[in-house]
Amino acid sequence: MLQGRHLVDPQDLQLTELEDLFSLAQRIQKDPLHYRDLCRGKILATLFFEPSTRTRLSFEAAMLRLGGSCLGFAEPSSSSVAKGESLADTIRTVAAYADMIVMRNPKEGAALLASRYSSVPVVNAGDGGHHHPTQTLTDLLTIRQLRGSTEGLTIGFCGDLRFGRTVHSLAETLARYRNNRMVFISPQELKIPEYIKNGALARNNIEYRETDRLESVMGDLDVLYMTRVQRERFFNEEDYIRLKDFYILDNEKLKNAKKDLIILHPLPRVNEIAMEVDADPRAAYFAQAKYGMYVRMALIASLIGDAAC
Ligand code: NCD
Repeated sequence: MLQGRHLVDPQDLQLTELEDLFSLAQRIQKDPLHYRDLCRGKILATLFFEPSTRTRLSFEAAMLRLGGSCLGFAEPSSSSVAKGESLADTIRTVAAYADMIVMRNPKEGAALLASRYSSVPVVNAGDGGHHHPTQTLTDLLTIRQLRGSTEGLTIGFCGDLRFGRTVHSLAETLARYRNNRMVFISPQELKIPEYIKNGALARNNIEYRETDRLESVMGDLDVLYMTRVQRERFFNEEDYIRLKDFYILDNEKLKNAKKDLIILHPLPRVNEIAMEVDADPRAAYFAQAKYGMYVRMALIASLIGDAAC
């Protein structure tokens, strides 16, 4: 039962609960009108202290499609945070107005703190360079839909693996499924954090490799997860400029790739995937964005929906 719970870290969900969410998302996608009144009279608050397109709008679209309403801010300068209000006070207040809170915040740990002060479910829509659990739901649903399974795969993560919260959440979760192997492709400065290697990967005996050469591993991959270099987390602009175009996936680099490779990207894309790749049938990043809305419908319905779905 997910009713009333928080989602701060992907580990908050058992694998069976993930499966339940995916199968509900699939049912919703097949017959969305059947679910249109599940959240009638309920209010979702979206508190975004950092920019967003897909996460915020897909949550809001999801709530509207379930018959509920949304309020919130996309710009902290328009809220009392700009007057110096603490996060704890903002959350206690919003929890009095809304039935569920979705929050994105630049500080690692902000969602955990919010969950401690909230009387309604808090969902982490990204806390700094830490975690982004609903992007993981999106990514796993996409892989499951396109491959039929999230087990026995070789997944390549490419780009900013140090600051990319989507990578951290997805790698930790894929590590909990059977027989997955991982390849971490990044420049030296942007390697996957030790806490993930020594934590989730070690705990689950995950076989993994690290390299800075995308071409050398391309042919081994079942899933290629491209990411943007996270400019907002850099301490200086020079490092960002030096690293931002380290990887640019194009048709040439895909020559050795498997025929059934799935190319994912949480988006937004900057330069890391050439536009020519969009026409390749293996490019799944726009389908992925759409699955994000269905899985968020399933999540909202499970956390605060009226009926058992
Ligand atoms: C990601 C994020 O915010 O971490 N975007 C998203 O939610 N789809 C990835 C990114 O910003 O690079």
